[in-house]
Amino acid sequence: MSLRTRTAALLAATGLSAGAAAAGDVEVLHWWTSGGEAAALNVLKQDLESQGIGWLDMPVAGGGGGNAMTVLRARVTAGNAPTAVQMLGFDILDWAREGALADLNEIAAMEGWDDVVPEALQAFAKHDGKWISAPVNVHSTNWVWANKALLDQNGIEIPTTWDEFTTAVEKLAAAGVTPIAHGGEAWQEATVFDAIAMSAGGPDFYRSAFIDLDESALGSETMREAFDRMAFIRGHVDENFSGRSWNLATAMVINGEAAFQMMGDWAKGEFLNAGQTPGEEFLCFRFPGTVEQVTFNADQFAMFDQGGAVSPEQAALASAILSPSFQSAFNVVKGSVPARTDVSDADFDACGRQGMKDLAAASSSGNLFGSMAHGHAAPASVRNAIYDVVTAHFNGEYDSSTAVRELVDAVELAK
Ligand code: BGC
Repeated sequence: MSLRTRTAALLAATGLSAGAAAAGDVEVLHWWTSGGEAAALNVLKQDLESQGIGWLDMPVAGGGGGNAMTVLRARVTAGNAPTAVQMLGFDILDWAREGALADLNEIAAMEGWDDVVPEALQAFAKHDGKWISAPVNVHSTNWVWANKALLDQNGIEIPTTWDEFTTAVEKLAAAGVTPIAHGGEAWQEATVFDAIAMSAGGPDFYRSAFIDLDESALGSETMREAFDRMAFIRGHVDENFSGRSWNLATAMVINGEAAFQMMGDWAKGEFLNAGQTPGEEFLCFRFPGTVEQVTFNADQFAMFDQGGAVSPEQAALASAILSPSFQSAFNVVKGSVPARTDVSDADFDACGRQGMKDLAAASSSGNLFGSMAHGHAAPASVRNAIYDVVTAHFNGEYDSSTAVRELVDAVELAK
């Protein structure tokens, strides 16, 4: 589909010819439409409604936010920007460079955001010395979610290395179990690739390839190994994977139709929404071979300049998002961890506590990296170029050596 047709279809599907929010309301564009995501979003809606601020909901379905960003561009081009927009990493900086975002410095200074938001997040929340978005959470992409009963029945321990993982996958396949639940969409394949590349080459390789965009790392033997590992995954998903939404893949693990899903910790929101508990029905663990690393992405709400100073509703939304009690309440439900360093882990479950501990440890040991798949390693043009190659390889268009060559060329052209 061409971009124009796709945008028109999205606008029609979402009724986005909508007008601007009335005074006292916020119009929020986001892609939190799965059960777990909607439950988390409700925490924010209710928080604002309790302050007398109305919520005009603008959901644009599509995991990873690609569709939402297409709709956003159309809205801004039409001179009808939403009040607040869920956004990731480099996209925020791109919009800031265009001068489209409101300056949140006053509220940030009043509330001391500089002291409590980790620097890795500030790098995407500030532009030219100004706060231009409000960080909601920290997600990470190098997780595996498992159905505990299926692992127990097949005598499988949590794998910590790639070799242990492939042994477990082959054992499950031999027992007639679908080893891996996967949704065949480019962003989902890229999410798996974050972890696979880290596991194949380690942190220095990940940084060289995805952050520095170094041609020798992109074209290396290690990258070929990463593609081979993707081919292994492709060989162990069910035949209906193509086009499946990520949350339906999570549902397969929830329902015992598949053993593992490799996905960011928004997947945990689905398990919780289905009434499951970590350690009982499901397990979470770091992707084998990436036990010390964290590939993160942080959802933020960027406030679009409505022509003048930041509006009272925008300031209230930003303030609500950064409040410690909201950061706990929201992230407990969402599956992510707080975007502030001073929030207690008391209300978090075992996976959430591990997430908080891993993030702090990775940050102090130099093992914290922006997720390529979720726009925190390189700008959208490069990310999309990588998506195309990874997904073409996953769908059998390229063998691993061809994929490596295509990757080098695609990144070179995009950067
Ligand atoms: C966002 C998450 C979201 C996920 C799936 C990610 O890019 O950071 O908040 O749940 O996409 O939609």
